[in-house]
Amino acid sequence: MSSTTIIVLALVALAVLAILFFATAGAGRDRAAAINLRREARKKDKANPALTGEGGAVTGREVERNAKLERRGSGELVSVSAEAAPPAPFIPPDPDVIAVTRRQFLNRGSATLMGISLATFGAAVLAFLWPQLGTGFGAKINAGKLSEIQGTIRDTKAPFYVAEARTWLSAYPDTALSKAKAVYSGGVLDGMEQGVVALYQKCVHLGCRVPWCGSAQWFECPCHGSKYNRVGEKKGGPAPRGLDRFAVSIANGNVMIDTGKVIQGPPIGTNTTGQEQEGPHCA
Ligand code: FES
Repeated sequence: MSSTTIIVLALVALAVLAILFFATAGAGRDRAAAINLRREARKKDKANPALTGEGGAVTGREVERNAKLERRGSGELVSVSAEAAPPAPFIPPDPDVIAVTRRQFLNRGSATLMGISLATFGAAVLAFLWPQLGTGFGAKINAGKLSEIQGTIRDTKAPFYVAEARTWLSAYPDTALSKAKAVYSGGVLDGMEQGVVALYQKCVHLGCRVPWCGSAQWFECPCHGSKYNRVGEKKGGPAPRGLDRFAVSIANGNVMIDTGKVIQGPPIGTNTTGQEQEGPHCA
């Protein structure tokens, strides 16, 4: 799974958690407000003499009974006070209801703390997963002077390993350039024209790190035995293609490897250099 996918999944998970949290908190608040309103209404009903029947006022039941009797024409009316019911006494609002209650304060405090914790956790996850755009793998990496690298490759009869770029820099023979132009392009071909090719160390079969085999003069994967020649073209094993690679450019004599984009290796059967096995296999 790529780091971008992981970041997207982490963001989605955080968003879902945040929505769930705020929905639950909102429902709790609504419930508390409804309970307060019910209490308030009951209190007002109790204090209203028009509803309690105190002071000679008519109750709802009496009004209904009178209406029924009127319809029947019996004339047994319950006496109704001519005076209108007195207005309900003013009940000052409960300061605990209109201001922030202790419970609301605690709820809001814990919601804020939870939000801060989630945001901090999310930021830490992003910081950990985000590719380092300025330096390190994922950026353009300076592998050193081209002339020195080529000298080392010649002297050691082995590719030059650039740990920061997770890359093998291998020599590309200029005699093979005409064939290379039919297969490679862009930054890979640019590097070949300068005499180097940058091969990603990860095996294209199942991702093991592929070491160099000095005796065979090939790259040989220890996991399932895939084999690639000096320029990373597939020679054997279960690998579905040649080694993936990176674009190379030369700046002030330095080899710059662009590890921001992995370029897929050449298809099976590609053999631009014709380099064969030069000794016993390592894997
Ligand atoms: S991982 Fe390299 S051959 Fe399987």
